[in-house]
Amino acid sequence: MRRPVIAGNWKMYKTLAETRAFFEAFKPLVVGTKKCDIVIAPPFTALAAAVEAAKGSSIAIAAQDAYWECEGAFTGEISMGMLLETGCRAVILGHSERRQYFGETDATVNRKLRAAVAAGLQPIVCVGERLEEREAGKTEEVLERQFSGGMAALTDAEFSRILIAYEPVWAIGTGRTATPEIAEEAQRFIRRLGAKKFGADGAATCRILYGGSVKPENIRGLMAQEDIDGALVGGASLDPRAFSEIVNY
Ligand code: PGA
Repeated sequence: MRRPVIAGNWKMYKTLAETRAFFEAFKPLVVGTKKCDIVIAPPFTALAAAVEAAKGSSIAIAAQDAYWECEGAFTGEISMGMLLETGCRAVILGHSERRQYFGETDATVNRKLRAAVAAGLQPIVCVGERLEEREAGKTEEVLERQFSGGMAALTDAEFSRILIAYEPVWAIGTGRTATPEIAEEAQRFIRRLGAKKFGADGAATCRILYGGSVKPENIRGLMAQEDIDGALVGGASLDPRAFSEIVNY
């Protein structure tokens, strides 16, 4: 039985004051929630404030990216150790916006992933095809390339500690959610890739989230699918009520 995870990715939204206001409104709405793990990924500047605001709840705080080196002359970068120091427990890696706008590749995702695992942070690794790739019938090819490149050199034990998020790029921020069937098909394929590389047991326990225009209205249909173990939510995670409805699906 895989425990569901509902994660919010705030992207470049929310000041410190807005972060505190969010938690004040959100915590009471999820106080009785036992059926899933809740994760929120605010921008770097709000991590410590979010950790503080989440105290006394089961909400885990995640970062949206990090660098693989421990320290050094890498202007603008943040290390895994620095994240841990804020009280952060997880980190999103390889989000399609990082790949699209900031030159993230499967090779850099892999270096970050290994650094995160070594530091004891839980990585949430994102994969997903672009619209033209889906339309050209290349979805599985793209997923296979991102999976094998991103997860390269991981041991079975390390694989058991990561979360995967399937985020078809054409569904992110577009209001165009993948149907539960489309998402399920891709996620079943990702699980098969996991089984091939890390064995059937590792793949069976790996939690695979769906991301892309998840809303209170479509979460149930998605969560009813066998290989969808949770959601990575962008836009709808900014609103405490909408996000609590997703968490309490
Ligand atoms: P969205 O974003 O829910 O706003 O589509 C999802 C994501 O990018 O993680």
